[in-house]
Amino acid sequence: MAELNGKRLVLGITGGIAAYKAAELARLFVKDGADVHAVLTRSGAQFVTPATFQALTGKPAWSDLWDARMPDNMAHIDLSRGADAIVIAPASADFLAKLAHGLADDLLSTLCLARDCPLIVAPAMNRQMWDNPATRRNISQLLQDGVIVLGPASGDQACGETGMGRMLEAMELHDAVTGYFQPKVLAGRRVLLTAGPTFEALDPVRGLTNLSSGKMGFALARAVRDAGAEATLVCGPVVQPTPPGVARVDVLSAGEMRDAVLRHVRETDIFIAVAAVADYRPEQTAAQKIKKAAQPLILTLQPNPDILAEIAALPNPPFCVGFAAESENLDEYAQGKRTSKKLPLVVGNLMRHGLGGDDNTIVMFDNEGRHPLGPAPKIEIARGIVAHIGRMLTGNGRE
Ligand code: C5P
Repeated sequence: MAELNGKRLVLGITGGIAAYKAAELARLFVKDGADVHAVLTRSGAQFVTPATFQALTGKPAWSDLWDARMPDNMAHIDLSRGADAIVIAPASADFLAKLAHGLADDLLSTLCLARDCPLIVAPAMNRQMWDNPATRRNISQLLQDGVIVLGPASGDQACGETGMGRMLEAMELHDAVTGYFQPKVLAGRRVLLTAGPTFEALDPVRGLTNLSSGKMGFALARAVRDAGAEATLVCGPVVQPTPPGVARVDVLSAGEMRDAVLRHVRETDIFIAVAAVADYRPEQTAAQKIKKAAQPLILTLQPNPDILAEIAALPNPPFCVGFAAESENLDEYAQGKRTSKKLPLVVGNLMRHGLGGDDNTIVMFDNEGRHPLGPAPKIEIARGIVAHIGRMLTGNGRE
């Protein structure tokens, strides 16, 4: 992963028990290539220490406005100069109030006031503090001021209560920040995706399925959302977490997947079919569990509808993207699929290591020819595919 290569981030840590998650967030940012400068408020430093962040970021961590280590005592300007964003996680109720009113009485609040980069905050507080009209007022002021507010989530709180106010997890914050930096090449577009396997029931407890993990489809849903589109993801049985902001429709069989796609396709500009749809389903589904017997069990399978081909053949189809997972002759089979299903773009991959890995190597096939990508983590591959779709839609398909 190097999605934050070249990005300079100021990570602010204010006073709250969620400060322990900021250490993990710093690690994820650094692992992803960012240059991270940690700044703790006095209360933040009661929960975690500057030494923690110094060790994780490999850079001095700051907390004091009057720190003599700053050569010209202009820490409040130097630290945010050239920063791509200030990320405050956790952002306490008190600190949000300060931001909303433009107070600047410590290093972090001064940096926020003297910045010329985006400010991203991840609130964390007790649910009553979050619901308090003063906090509501401050949050709406910050949103009006263009501050990006990530979360909070609802759940168990350190005080023993349950409700809104839990800081998002470090991975969620990392994903939201990397998403924020993506070019908005699909702004305003509505994208429908399919992902994962389908499950074709044989009886109430058994069925035919495959080993598709759904990872590529979920990465694409995330990349599409990060590119500014509205994403709806129809997925078969998978254990992937739904990317925040993506509408998810769970289905089991190819028939259900087709119905869900047809329900949404009218409001769709782009259809990306990533799902490994079962080609066949049992002709009959037994109402009761099939009992074991000494004789062979003969199943008759019926072909499933080809969802992608059906959508691409609609009178006014969305821009359709297909996938072709092949074990040999990638170019020939993928191009064949592009022609037979009448698709502007097919993403092909040679399955050398089976399904379900975290990395992928693909070749995109369009009218212009072949465009290889990878090997790379699936999210990077997904961003490459989205960029290519963006170029094709703006008539700038040439690489
Ligand atoms: O023909 P093949 O199954 O290899 O084509 C793969 C592409 O078609 C993928 O994009 C897949 O999601 C889509 N597909 C579909 N419905 C099917 C079979 C495949 O949408 N029944």
